[in-house]
Amino acid sequence: MDGQGKPKKSRIAIIGGGVIGLGIGWRLAQAGCAVEIFERGEAGKGASWAAAGMLAAGVETEPGELGLHALNRASQLSWPGFAAELEAVSGQSVDLRRDGTLMVALNRDDAAQLRHTYDFQREHGIELEWLSGAQTRAREGFLHPNIAAGVFCADDHQVENRKLVRALRAAFLAAGGILHEHTPVASLDIEGGAVKGVQLADRRVAADVVVLAAGAWSGEIAGLPQAARPPIRPIKGQMLALRMDPAAPLLRHVVWTPRVYLVPRDDGRLIVGATTEERGFDASLTAGGVMVLLEGAWRAVPGIEELAIDEIWAGFRPGSRDDAPVLGPGEIDGLVYATGHHRNGILLTPVTANAVADYILTGALAEVIRPFSIARFAGAKIAAREKT
Ligand code: FAD
Ligand code: GLY
Repeated sequence: MDGQGKPKKSRIAIIGGGVIGLGIGWRLAQAGCAVEIFERGEAGKGASWAAAGMLAAGVETEPGELGLHALNRASQLSWPGFAAELEAVSGQSVDLRRDGTLMVALNRDDAAQLRHTYDFQREHGIELEWLSGAQTRAREGFLHPNIAAGVFCADDHQVENRKLVRALRAAFLAAGGILHEHTPVASLDIEGGAVKGVQLADRRVAADVVVLAAGAWSGEIAGLPQAARPPIRPIKGQMLALRMDPAAPLLRHVVWTPRVYLVPRDDGRLIVGATTEERGFDASLTAGGVMVLLEGAWRAVPGIEELAIDEIWAGFRPGSRDDAPVLGPGEIDGLVYATGHHRNGILLTPVTANAVADYILTGALAEVIRPFSIARFAGAKIAAREKT
């Protein structure tokens, strides 16, 4: 901050108006920075719109992703306060539901697999409760009668991500941020190893700091030297929504089956997700994808066959080489990364918004995001070269 209480790095350009760009922009605008977000389409209509909104720091923890668990858990713990503040300033609800998450086993094989996951997750400090088939069905009466076992995670909640997008947009604008929609950034403006701003189709915009928050497209922005390009690729997910009676929903908890997850919303929509596909930016909806979703859901909750299909869509998770986000500064002075949130960008919105904004305002990098610097990929490249 300077003597007048204004942040030193006061002109900020953010590329991408998803939950990550909007969240960081909101925090910086609140702190008095002049923040402009440049969004190629309509803000929040990328992966942030396509997501299921699960805040699944517990049940999504897999072997090999333990480094990420601390970040996921920190963000999960921030969610109630973040949601309350966001709702207060935006005047809009984000439907944070704290019913918890059930993982279910459909047969004895699934139960053995579930026990293995349960043991692993418990060993790493995740609070879980093992349930018999009968106990599982007592929590969700419309589950298949043959359900063999279940695991309850009381800490894994959900938020309505489309409402989150709208609330973040409203909060960002209310804090004085400027949002340019239908305004693609053509390239980054970099001179002498420092970022000077962004180049649009018709003009150049000067900035002290540029935040790269372009989701699955973050590796494609022109003007970035190869070494500074985040290794991000699109990981396609097809999803669909069924329509339940909101007064008599088939499910109340988020439910994970061996093949799909089901997320009941307050308005009666039942989200069924999601495929995980390496198809580049091909957004087509396929018979195979829809079949996997419907069959997977039906095996766990047979009653879904009576429900109307409300919507089918696809989105692109921003996946990095190690499935973890890319956060904070790199080699280009003034360029800050906030991308690669893969399967957990909604969960990671609070910690990303707070820690990246704090870094820009103070120059201090929070301990929790330090392991997620882009430098980890440069290190991998050097190590690979040394071996050959
Ligand atoms: P996006 O929301 O994609 O935003 C990036 C924006 O950048 C886009 O709007 C795009 O138009 C814009 N852009 C791109 N290039 C340019 C350019 N050159 N100039 C200007 N703008 C540009 N996460 C969870 O935590 N929980 C879940 O349950 C969950 N479920 C998911 C289910 C599916 C099917 C998918 C696809 C994702 C899911 N995710 C989930 C992941 C989550 O959606 C993402 O990690 C998160 O939305 C990423 O946010 P973002 O702002 O980085 O990206
Ligand atoms: N986190 C759920 C998904 O990415 O499908």
